[in-house]
Amino acid sequence: MNFENILVELKENLAVILINRPAKLNALNKKTIEELHEAFKALDSDASVKVIIITGSGEKAFVAGADISEFANFNIEEGTELARKGQELLFNFVQNLGTPVIAAVNGFALGGGLELAMAAHFRVASTNAKMGLPEVSLGLIPGYGGTQRLPQLVGKGKAMEMIMTAGMISAEEAKECGLVNYVVEQEELLPLCEKLASKITRNSSTAIASAIKAVNANYTNCVNGFAIEIEEFGVSFNTNDFEEGTTAFLEKRKPNFE
Ligand code: COA
Repeated sequence: MNFENILVELKENLAVILINRPAKLNALNKKTIEELHEAFKALDSDASVKVIIITGSGEKAFVAGADISEFANFNIEEGTELARKGQELLFNFVQNLGTPVIAAVNGFALGGGLELAMAAHFRVASTNAKMGLPEVSLGLIPGYGGTQRLPQLVGKGKAMEMIMTAGMISAEEAKECGLVNYVVEQEELLPLCEKLASKITRNSSTAIASAIKAVNANYTNCVNGFAIEIEEFGVSFNTNDFEEGTTAFLEKRKPNFE
């Protein structure tokens, strides 16, 4: 895969997407969002890829936000379209991907950067990471799902505080409020994500995709998460992985999923 602003590295069952605009702290411009969409789409349809890790290049930033220089002169229509297209192409797309996505937050994750990390299925941060939604300091509100996903992860009160103050929280604070699952030194960040990925790859990809769908259903308007869970649970019984997983258990051996 050849891109201008991102790099994709494949390591056996794992893909690492590196957002590669370090001079702009990996800010998400239109081109980067389109490339990320293409990369996630291609990796999700590659059956050999079991987990995707997304991270930023350099030691300073995961992503310092949407590229402010691109939208500074936008009007209502253009602003609406920016959020709508971004959510559709990247943020909702990542959240609903059947392949697990881990965000390795290696520095600033601000605005669209934190929104991208929150769209991933879970997050691991390095000790230098700083996270926040500074949009109201620019006279905006988060437009890539931040007003929805931040309260889901940290609770309404904490989310309101972070959005209203436009402040940044440290990696440790992010862990305390449930925004990230682990905090490690920067050199340990990718190794830990890879270790978590290898635990995931031992399990049934089909079942994991169903679980992602069921968990996400709880956060989708007008969808009954419990009903989706029942449906996806039932569907699992018709898969080869279910047959192999239960057979292996009963035969007291490790499963060998396709
Ligand atoms: N959009 C466009 N460019 C950005 C950017 C963004 N969101 N964030 C950083 N950059 C650019 C800077 O303009 C600068 O470019 P330049 O060297 O051509 O002038 C470069 O990245 C380095 O950033 P700089 O501000 O010099 O680094 P810093 O260490 O002093 O500060 C931050 C780091 C993250 C605190 C600061 O860059 C910042 O506040 N960025 C904007 C964060 C934000 O509001 N994001 C939400 C957008 S909706």
